[in-house]
Amino acid sequence: MKIEISGTGANLEFECPLEERVLYAGLSNNPQLPYECATGTCGSCKAKCVSGSYEWAWPEAPARKNLKSDDELLLCQCIAKSNLKLEVRSKLVKSHLPFPSADWINGQIINAENLAPGVMSLRIRLAQSIHFLPGQFMVVEFPQISGGRAWSMTNFVEGNTNEVDFVIKMKPGGLLSKHLFDTNVFASLCGKSVRAFGPVGKAVFDQGNARDLVCIAGGTGVAGMMSILQAFLKNHSKTGRKASLYFGVRTPADAFFMNELTQIVRDSKRAVRVVVAFSDSPASKDYIAKYEYIDFDEGFVHEVTMRQMEAWKTPQTRAYLAGPPPLVDGALRALLLQAKLAAGEILYDKFG
Ligand SMILES: Cc1cc2nc3c(=O)[nH]c(=O)nc-3n(C[C@H](O)[C@H](O)[C@H](O)COP(=O)(O)OP(=O)(O)OC[C@H]3O[C@@H](n4cnc5c(N)ncnc54)[C@H](O)[C@@H]3O)c2cc1C
Ligand code: FES
Repeated sequence: MKIEISGTGANLEFECPLEERVLYAGLSNNPQLPYECATGTCGSCKAKCVSGSYEWAWPEAPARKNLKSDDELLLCQCIAKSNLKLEVRSKLVKSHLPFPSADWINGQIINAENLAPGVMSLRIRLAQSIHFLPGQFMVVEFPQISGGRAWSMTNFVEGNTNEVDFVIKMKPGGLLSKHLFDTNVFASLCGKSVRAFGPVGKAVFDQGNARDLVCIAGGTGVAGMMSILQAFLKNHSKTGRKASLYFGVRTPADAFFMNELTQIVRDSKRAVRVVVAFSDSPASKDYIAKYEYIDFDEGFVHEVTMRQMEAWKTPQTRAYLAGPPPLVDGALRALLLQAKLAAGEILYDKFG
């Protein structure tokens, strides 16, 4: 099927295979397509259908409720049934960043570990090597569960790799969460086959544009930050830049990656600062003493960031945010209105 998309000032044309979502077909060569979550929740891939017919891959996609008329669709949730002419509002301009092309790749789970209550890490070996940018994610499908789940890579590799690491948080009532966190399923995850689409995501670390970083993460929002900070570490001795991560969890028992974060702070010779914010109960003295390279505070992570970031903010600051939508919205407001960061310097992934 031929897909023609017009945006302000530019048009795109690509082929969409049978049964493929329009966004996924387009992303193999056109990273400038408008999207954020790639999984039907954010609405940023909204398009108007000018001609042709299509079907919904997931008619219940949450972002569908924000569409205003029957001729509007979500690129990430629609399958072309004929040639399609579509219109989008965005500019469709190519970024200067070297976004790798995205595709479906088969994979196998080769490691699964419990990191904290309701949090696990997964390592997937892909049948083909990929190159991904720090901060990107993949949409992973399990045979038993309909639809894919977006997960950010926690690892950082300069070249190609066929192994991608994820950290996954149990979502109460979530379909895949119920499956993955079942004790019997978890015990037999290694060796299980999955299918993944990617790499995708535009909230990436730009290695060619040295900035001071402020990263704000809630829960597994820290996933992409792990990759970004590892990439930052590769260059910071040359650039002299610094980075701070504000990582919010409810209680000390919910925190994870503490040893990995300690290692990053140590390797950076404290050019990276990590502040863990507990919203529900503070850390004990013993806990604080155990992690001498990490700072602790109490409260919601965006409030803690506002209290603590001033000393780390410079005119060259770029912010990365990831986590549940209320956290990202709160942090966005604070960074724009209180910290006066320019909107173009704030990149984010909302996990829902
Ligand atoms: C950019 C991005 C990065 C993310 N990174 C992470 C991460 O690193 N770690 C993490 O734990 N979570 C991450 N998330 C959240 C994650 O994608 C899931 O929401 C989470 O794993 C819960 O899945 P669930 O099946 O338990 O919940 P559910 O509520 O059942 O499903 C969650 C999401 O899966 C998709 N979905 C559900 N059913 C269908 C269907 N039938 N067809 C198509 N799609 C469907 C939808 O997007 C839905 O919102 C990220 C989300 C985004 C958008
Ligand atoms: S990219 Fe399609 S709804 Fe988010």
